Amino acid sequence: MRLTCTINGEGREVDGVWEGESLLYVLRERLALPGSKNACEQGECGSCSVYLDGQLVCSCLVAAGQAEGCEIVTVEGLEFGPVHEAFLTAGAVQCGFCTPGLVVATHDLLARNPSPSDAEIREALAGNLCRCTGYEKILDAVRLAAS
Ligand code: FES
Ligand code: FES
Repeated sequence: MRLTCTINGEGREVDGVWEGESLLYVLRERLALPGSKNACEQGECGSCSVYLDGQLVCSCLVAAGQAEGCEIVTVEGLEFGPVHEAFLTAGAVQCGFCTPGLVVATHDLLARNPSPSDAEIREALAGNLCRCTGYEKILDAVRLAAS
């Protein structure tokens, strides 16, 4: 199939796509957008988080055919800003594999709730796994970005 969609504000057409392959695969392997990471491919880790028509989704769980006509924003499409700065300042990046997903999820949280409580931060990021940081610095980063 030909997938026609908007990615990071740009209209894209991708030929030769199998309807059942994941949006994550299309982004990484067909469109050279490697920011969204492929860790579990089962919707468990959040490293592949993107916006699909304004909703935060795991792109590994979205079939390419479901993205037809949709507007997708990946971590590459987010302007460098307070969330990125806060992750760097707080030391919330170690290997960095989880970071793109966390940045997108934090961006989504703060757009919906600019002053989240700790419980709301934990709930919003509950789907994002990190093997390195122990999460405290990630929580610090989100608090810093919110402030
Ligand atoms: S790779 Fe999509 S949730 Fe883990
Ligand atoms: S910084 Fe390594 S997985 Fe989070």
